[in-house]
Parts: sequence; structure tokens; C-alpha cells
Amino acid sequence: MIEYRNVTKVFNGGVTALNNINLKIKKGEFVSIVGQSGTGKSTLLKLLTLEERPTSGRVIFYKTDLDEISKKELPFHRRRIGVIFQDFKLLLTRTVYENVAFALEVAGVKSDEIKKSVSQILNIVGLERKLNSYPHELSGGEQQRVAIARALVHHPEILIADEPTGNLDIINTWEIADLLLKINKLGTTVVLATHDKETVDRLGKRVVGIDDGRIIRDQEKGKYMI
Ligand SMILES: Nc1ncnc2c1ncn2[C@@H]1O[C@H](COP(=O)(O)OP(=O)(O)OP(=O)(O)O)[C@@H](O)[C@H]1O
Ligand SMILES: [Mg+2]
Repeated sequence: MIEYRNVTKVFNGGVTALNNINLKIKKGEFVSIVGQSGTGKSTLLKLLTLEERPTSGRVIFYKTDLDEISKKELPFHRRRIGVIFQDFKLLLTRTVYENVAFALEVAGVKSDEIKKSVSQILNIVGLERKLNSYPHELSGGEQQRVAIARALVHHPEILIADEPTGNLDIINTWEIADLLLKINKLGTTVVLATHDKETVDRLGKRVVGIDDGRIIRDQEKGKYMI
């Protein structure tokens, strides 16, 4: 389970991005964090990947107090988490297969295991026939699916998606939303930050509303509303 306990984040310029956040996310849950631009959604997620540290309060990640993770342990912590973004951050000179395999190569996984894992994950995201394509030969939705495959190839405990449908049209948005649901069904916890109404309404999952760094609502089967 992930738990934020009285978490406040004040940036150097004096901006309070998060103001006394208390939030629990259970293993296997699907949670959407919604709210307008600048309300603290990305900051909330960055505390999990340790791109940011809280000014006060604690973040617990599956029994580990993130405050206790040292620089040396950081790569191991980050491998427990898959992350996708609005801009897909793919390697443009590498194929679909290579983009997904790269993460495993860096981690020193054997090549026959890499082959097995990559083809398995490309099947799940529905890109098994595009493995030799380059990112510029793919639609936006397909590029995001490559990013999802890359994020999942480590079998992370949690997938963090920060505005993953921000660059997509409605059809691709629905496809990505459905894929996130499928991944969640297969057992991965999903935490999504978005201001996209279409995505949130289609999911029909837990919605945590955030405004000005505070949680303003938390609904089991929420819809998008501000
Ligand atoms: N590194 C930083 N230094 C200073 N201020 C920051 C930094 N990162 C974020 N902020 C500020 O913290 C607040 C929350 O930012 P955050 O990126 O979490 O918002 P968000 O809800 O993700 O917005 P968006 O929907 O536009 O992505 C904003 O006022 C932002 O300007
Ligand atoms: Mg953001």
C-alpha cells in the first residue's frame, strides 16, 4: 500500500504545491488524480519516484518510508515503478522492439529473457506486429502503447501515468484508457494524473480531486468534475 501522511511540499520560490495531503492507495487499485493545471498532481506523483521530496510529512511505499531510501538504492526503487508521460519520451532512432528491450538491457537481463519478456509485453499492448517500426511510423496512440510496454517490462508494482492522453485524439484516448484498465486487471496498481474528462468518465474508477494542493474529494466510482 502507498500512503501519504500529512505531506506538504513547498518549492523554493515559496509555492505550496501540496498542502497537508493524506491519501492511501491500496495494492491493485486504480486511482485517478484530477484537478486543474498547477494544482499539484505531478508533484504528488514525483514524490513516489523520488524526483521530489516532501518539505514535511511522510510517503510510505509498500512498507518502505521513502525518506529512508538512499541515493544508492534509488535505481532499485525506481525499477519498482513504471512511468508514462504526455510526451512519450521514446528513443526516436530505435525500433519499437529496441525501445522496450533497452530498459532490460540496461538492467543486465540475458538476451533470451529479453526476447521473451518484450514479445509478451508487446502482445499485451497489441503491438506485436509493429516491433520493427520506428516511432515516427506510429500513430500517437501506438507510441503511447510503446511507452506503456517499456514501463511495464520490468513488472513494476505500480504504473504511474502523468497526463498520458494529453496529446491524443478521442479514439486514441479511449484506447489508452481501456489499456490502462486491462493492465490494472492483470494486477498492476495504476495511479493516473489527468485533467481529461473523457478518460476519467470512461474509467469509472476511484477519483481523487485536488485543488490548490489539497484533496477536495475522494470517490470510489467518480466522474470528472471541478
Ligand atoms: N520545480 C519546481 N519549482 C518551483 N515550483 C514548482 C516546481 N514544480 C512545480 N511547481 C509549482 O507547483 C505547483 C504544482 O505544480 P504541478 O506540476 O504539480 O501541477 P499539476 O497539477 O501537475 O499541473 P498540470 O495539470 O499543468 O500538469 C505549480 O504552481 C507549479 O508552478
Ligand atoms: Mg502535471
